[in-house]
Amino acid sequence: MSELLSPFKIRDLSLKNRVVLSPMCQYSARRGYSNDWHFAHLARFGMGGFGTVIFEATAVSPEGRITYGDLGIWEDGQAQSLTRIVDFLHGQGAAAGIQLAHAGRKASSALWWRGSFNETEEEKSQVAFQEWEPVAPSAILHAEGPTGFKMPGELAPEDMEKIREAFVAGAARADEAGFDIVEVHAAHGYLLNQFLSPIGNRRRDAYGESLENRMRFPLSVIASVREVWPERKPLFVRISAEDGIEGGWTLEDSLVFAEELKKLAVDIVVCSSGGFDGARFNIGKNYQVPLARRLRKEAGMGTMAVGLITKAQDAEAIIAGGSADMVALAREALDDPNWPLHARMMLGGAEDPYAEWPVQEGFAIRNKDRSLQIRGFSKS
Ligand SMILES: Cc1cc2nc3c(=O)[nH]c(=O)nc-3n(C[C@H](O)[C@H](O)[C@H](O)COP(=O)(O)O)c2cc1C
Repeated sequence: MSELLSPFKIRDLSLKNRVVLSPMCQYSARRGYSNDWHFAHLARFGMGGFGTVIFEATAVSPEGRITYGDLGIWEDGQAQSLTRIVDFLHGQGAAAGIQLAHAGRKASSALWWRGSFNETEEEKSQVAFQEWEPVAPSAILHAEGPTGFKMPGELAPEDMEKIREAFVAGAARADEAGFDIVEVHAAHGYLLNQFLSPIGNRRRDAYGESLENRMRFPLSVIASVREVWPERKPLFVRISAEDGIEGGWTLEDSLVFAEELKKLAVDIVVCSSGGFDGARFNIGKNYQVPLARRLRKEAGMGTMAVGLITKAQDAEAIIAGGSADMVALAREALDDPNWPLHARMMLGGAEDPYAEWPVQEGFAIRNKDRSLQIRGFSKS
């Protein structure tokens, strides 16, 4: 019996399995509004059997976008444009989560696949091109190079208050739009991570220097989000469990942070890593799972593992072995949007695995496999 593919309940939310589509920026929005690309990109994971689909980093304010192409949730209309996708996912039996984000000093950068600001004037008008000055805990440049990172302005406490309010407003809109889960983005060297890590935070006020001070703003944002986000709905927080840089944020810091998150009724910590320039990691299959395991075992925190998890058997072992409560896939999901349905074929545990496919497709897949005597019809 697969634990990975068995139903799982967090607060009042019933999930059909523990497989999650990890948020993936598409840089394809205009003025923060979603379009058919976002629908097609996300819908296929609902059709493919993911129990939870988490929408990409969605900016709570215009200057919080990583690029001009990010989704946004600072206007009601932006949230309303997401409802159609949420409804479709619900129709496929998947839960919908949204990652609320602010990029801080990594805002207003170039699109990954372009590498620099090389848009022609014609392209600029087509994509609603914009550049702006980013803000951050401290006026430190993220990195030199063609990727377009800019020197940020240092945030004054009253501007931090506006950002906190923007997260709160974003969470309220997400609730209105029908989302089941909010994931606060505090990872990958973006704004909240910049506050947490000594690499991004050189402040001398109540928000800098000691660990307690550096956690203060992120915790206040998360506490405020929890206040408006309905109690019956789960709240996730994504962290970079370690910076991978000498003198940076460590796993020990994450264990302290996780204790605080538990007090704020956060349900799951998504354990990623890195995001600051110069980070060093041994990247390989399942490489971040030990981070999720330690947070789960030592802080008693619910965790989600992510990072080069590609094999069904590995994902099953992560859950069954108690390393994490949920498993997220990003690039492997792009490669195989039907990953959970294929995992069911490999792991078993369903009386009729074909019944888990969308009804419009399952009968045809069944006929194909019967003709070829494979998978559910294999004699060996
Ligand atoms: C195209 C792309 C976009 C991404 N965008 C986001 C994002 O919006 N928010 C986030 O927290 N992580 C983002 N990530 C990181 C993934 O969610 C995931 O943590 C990472 O890719 C490792 O998982 P994987 O090995 O399964 O791809 C992105 C990754 C990719 C490949």
